[in-house]
Amino acid sequence: MSTRSVSPDSLVSVAAHSSGEVLEAWRWMRAHDPVHWHPGGEFSGFWSVTRHADVRAVYQDAAIFTSAAGVLLRPADRGGDPGGGMTLALTDPPRHRDLRAVVAEWFGARSVRALVGLMRETTRALLRRAVDRGECEFVRDVAAPLSHAMICRLMGVPDADRESVFEWSSEAFHRGTSLTTHHELARYFVDLMERKVAEPADDIVTALVTGAPAGALLSAEEVLFNCENLLGATENGRLGLAGAVQALVEHPGQWRLLRARRDLIPGTVEETLRWTSSAVHSVRTAATAVELRGRRIAAGDKVALWLPSANRDEEVFAEPDRFDVSRTPNRHLAFAAGEHFCIGNVLARAETTVLLEELVVLAARLEPAGPVVPVRSIAVRGPERLPVRLVPA
Ligand code: HEM
Repeated sequence: MSTRSVSPDSLVSVAAHSSGEVLEAWRWMRAHDPVHWHPGGEFSGFWSVTRHADVRAVYQDAAIFTSAAGVLLRPADRGGDPGGGMTLALTDPPRHRDLRAVVAEWFGARSVRALVGLMRETTRALLRRAVDRGECEFVRDVAAPLSHAMICRLMGVPDADRESVFEWSSEAFHRGTSLTTHHELARYFVDLMERKVAEPADDIVTALVTGAPAGALLSAEEVLFNCENLLGATENGRLGLAGAVQALVEHPGQWRLLRARRDLIPGTVEETLRWTSSAVHSVRTAATAVELRGRRIAAGDKVALWLPSANRDEEVFAEPDRFDVSRTPNRHLAFAAGEHFCIGNVLARAETTVLLEELVVLAARLEPAGPVVPVRSIAVRGPERLPVRLVPA
């Protein structure tokens, strides 16, 4: 076995994630110990899966690898995920399928297409302001308000309330706590649910309060947790957008290529998803004993799937550490796979596409305007702050 300078233990270190050191640990693990056992410590013992084929196989077997007991690594003393068994992310089939059917329509191509006009208008206005000022902090000024405005529209949050919901959810993201622990946010959604019962509208919150998966209405608690799951999931949308711009700032040659070849925008969207891999891990719990790459996983064991590692697997991607907007094919797993394949994927792809389409028209150059501050997390990746200079076209 070759020596390694970064240990698999770094996978649970926030510092190793934000410094990027963890990429080196994953590289070593893919080559030498692709299904690795971490003994218990701050986190209870768990397996790490780092190769693309194995990550995909686990996602695709929801009968053995279940989600209801939690999909994120949580320190052992924090207990289970409070939304367990209730939210889209934290249920297993058949319940999961019934629940997903209640909201799927709003995330499909037709619904997202109807949103593209507003998406473009919002994106253009935010970018114009940034270009006029010459500099911006891209997360605060563009990525966060854009992804927030879109989910609010789909959920049926009135425009007048959007700002408050933005403040509360940003506070929770910043603290790294679950949105469900934010009292004002929870109170707001309870009130919104009552308003939608009284006055049903064409939106997701109405669908959740009036829909009856498997013949029974959802409880108020289930609706609340699902609302917060959807709002919380946009953290990935924001990091995905900001990660795309960070990649282009850091690769000026790729930015120039994109400006000259706008037909490369769809491929660039996929490459930025692979490159950023804003969702870092998914946890599953083995329902029965199972073997994976010769390792025996016992019933009840936790298995963590590491997406940025799968998305840099040398067996699937040529020169995986190169950011290449003309990469094809690009079979990344940024949105997971199987039953829980990201329901927001059409929305996130549309937002990134519109952002790039507008950016190549408005800006000739993207330049760093200060240090990038990465999010401090082992669950999500991308910039917390991204100061950018936008040189007008
Ligand atoms: C670049 C952006 C995004 C990335 C990389 C991403 C990634 C993922 C991943 C990896 C999962 C699977 C989690 C698991 O099962 O353990 C997931 C699920 C999910 N995502 Fe996204 N996501 C993104 C944007 C969004 C957006 C904008 C929304 C909109 C609300 C969203 C909503 C969801 C929901 C609700 C689930 C759970 C689906 C289910 O369990 O059936 N995501 N996402």
